[in-house]
Parts: sequence; structure tokens; C-alpha cells
Amino acid sequence: MADIRSQWIQSLRAELDERRAGHLLRELRQVESPQGPTLVIDGHEYVQFCTNNYLGLATDPEVIEASREATGRFGAGSGASRLVAGSMALHHQLETALAHFKHAEAALVFPTGFMANLAVLTTFAGEDDLVVSDKLNHASLLDAAKFSGAYHRTFPHRKYERAAELLEKQEVRSKKQDEKGKDQESGRKSAGRRFLVTDSFFSMDGDLADLPAACAVAASHDALVIVDEAHGTGVLGPRGAGVAELQGVEDRVTLSIGTLSKALGSLGGFVTGPREAIEMLVNAARSFIYTTALPPGCSAAALAALKIVEREPARRQRVMSLAQRVKTELEALGFDCGNSASPVIPVILGEAETAVAAAMFLRQRGIYVPAIRPPTVPPKSARLRISLMTTHTDSQVSQLIDAMAALAADQANR
Ligand SMILES: Cc1ncc(COP(=O)(O)O)c(C=O)c1O
Repeated sequence: MADIRSQWIQSLRAELDERRAGHLLRELRQVESPQGPTLVIDGHEYVQFCTNNYLGLATDPEVIEASREATGRFGAGSGASRLVAGSMALHHQLETALAHFKHAEAALVFPTGFMANLAVLTTFAGEDDLVVSDKLNHASLLDAAKFSGAYHRTFPHRKYERAAELLEKQEVRSKKQDEKGKDQESGRKSAGRRFLVTDSFFSMDGDLADLPAACAVAASHDALVIVDEAHGTGVLGPRGAGVAELQGVEDRVTLSIGTLSKALGSLGGFVTGPREAIEMLVNAARSFIYTTALPPGCSAAALAALKIVEREPARRQRVMSLAQRVKTELEALGFDCGNSASPVIPVILGEAETAVAAAMFLRQRGIYVPAIRPPTVPPKSARLRISLMTTHTDSQVSQLIDAMAALAADQANR
């Protein structure tokens, strides 16, 4: 009889085999080049349409130099949590710059955007609060809502009238509180608050939340609005501050979350909002308190990237015009590109197998586009996810469109 460890490994193998058979197995590939418009992957060079490095800043010489200089001066790591000895001058400079950029009172930097999302909901929502989320919100926001212990309901994508119905029917649950009425883990008192939580730019669909509609629903139900601008930051809005800026609702969003890891080309997450909220995160957010601070090189890279975003609007104008071209030409070929209004263009194909075969077809023609499958997207909506970069040349984009035309012809002949 097999021992418990062998039984466990066997059961894992069976589960992985099942995923492989369903075209759902995820595998790591080795990238051997910088994150430019071309990538060398497993020894082959491809023109790539798969990163979130929308403005090309991860490989920008000014950003690299800032990172190199900060690493030389301050070291590779920050040594401790922010509250111990890791709160370096660069973090404070970055927070001042982010608050200014987002027109907010204050900002707080985290080691990743995932941790920033986790911090916000687990700090501000508790057992007798209600969190209402767009069903297509990023996994980190959905997980954060779960971990918060709040009563969590999702509404269908961008259906704010349904969000309104959910906000009307708040249910109060029993609390895990001490004798002073405080939540035992966060040390904070829950107050029966309502939160409406949404991504601003949905990363697998490339479409945007209707933030004025979301804010109006929240306002009429006394709910606070939390927006994840991970993908909008740097790319959308007149100054690149994000979708809230684009749609003119910066002052109606209670808390905004962002990441330094996408258009800003570095690593790290951040939250902007009222000074008191930021101070409360410093005091109660477990994913801020119990982790080592962002390294100096990442902080300096993000600071340099922010300056470029503010100085060079042409970068975001170019990536948006490339995206518009790709969407128009792919729709003319008969592809379903959803409601994309950003540098991410989905090509919705349906079954996971079809999406994997399409990605392979493109790869054989020197184009790297990822197939996105459930559970990242809903069942039967597997897709290619094309993301554009400012630094793509017109001829690289033409190569993509030619390969997609060949794919359309191949599918029509089946
Ligand atoms: C919408 C959204 N929010 C949050 C995150 C997490 O950001 P980070 O990669 O900085 O952890 C991501 C990235 O994966 C994202 O797409």
C-alpha cells in the first residue's frame, strides 16, 4: 500500500493530466531577452504582443539608469519591513510623486499590486460590511474581498443596475469580534459599510468600467468606491493618471489602487486616497506591515517612469493609435474583439483548444500572443490576448495583422 506522500503525488499527477487533456495546463517558458517588442523565448525570437509594458518603460534607458544608480547607492534590497527600518527616502519620494500624479492627498507603496489590493479590502471591510464587486475584477480584488470576511456579492460585468440592487439588500452577518466590538485580526471596528469595487481597465477584455455610472450608484447607496487602476495608470487619461481621470471622476473615487509593474515598467503596488485612509493602512494592513519593503532599484525606476509619463504624452497616444488600428483591422477580418478601448485587444475564440491552436499558429509565424483560458476568463470565452506597446513598429503590427489574416483563412477552411 502506497504511503500518504506517494498517494498525494499520484493524485496531483492525475489532476495535472486532466488539465493537460482539457488544454488547460499552464507551463512556464523561459524568456532570454529584455522585455522589448521582440522576445527570445526558449531559444526562438518572436515579435511579441503579450506584455503589460505598454509604454516600453521596462527597457527605457532613463528608467534602467535610475534603477542602476539607486541600487549602487542604496543596495539591492530594503532590508526590512517599512515599519521596522525599511522605509527608505526613495519610498517617501515615490509616494509624494504618486499622490501628486493621482491628485490625491496621500499614497502608500506596497511590494506588489496584489498586496495593495489585499491591503485595502482586508483593512477597510470586515464581517458586517458588504462588498459588491464586478464579476470580472482581477483575482487579487476578488480574493481580497473573500479574505476580508465581508459579505461579498458580485454583479455581472458593468451591470451597475444590478450592483445597485445588491447594495440595497445588505445582509448583516455575525461578527468575530472581541468584547470591545473589534475584529480580532485587524483590531478595527466594523461599521456596516458598503463598498463598490471595480477594475477600471479590465485586463483580459481591454474594456473600461463606466466609472461615472458606478460612482452614481455608489453615491445613491452610501457606498464607498474602490477602483483598481493597475492597467489604466500611465496609459489612459489626459495626463496618463488612469480611467478615473479620463472619465472625470477622480474626486468621486474613494480609494484608487495601482501598480508600478505594468505601464510604469517596474515592480510594486500603491494606494492613493485620503490621508487618514493611508495612515490606517500603515497601522492595520497585514500585507503592508508583515513584508519587506520594495527594493530601492524598483522605487527609483518607478519614479523615473512617472516623470516620463508626465513629460511624454506621445507615448500613450501612439500605443492607443496602434491599438485602434489593430482592433479595426481584426474586426474587418471577422474577429470578435469585444469592447476593447485600450491597448489590450481580446480575440474571443470560444474553446480553450481553439485558442491554444491559434496561439500555436501565430507562434509558427514568429508572433507571440498568449492564449487565455478558463479559469482566468469565463468558460467558452477562451481567447488570444493581444497587447500593444508604444515601441512596436508599424511593420511589426502589420506582421501581426498578416498572421491574423492567415489564421482567419485557416479557420474558414476547416
Ligand atoms: C487588474 C489588476 N490588478 C492588480 C494586479 C496585480 O498587480 P501586480 O502585478 O503589481 O501584483 C494585476 C496584475 O496582474 C491586475 O491585472
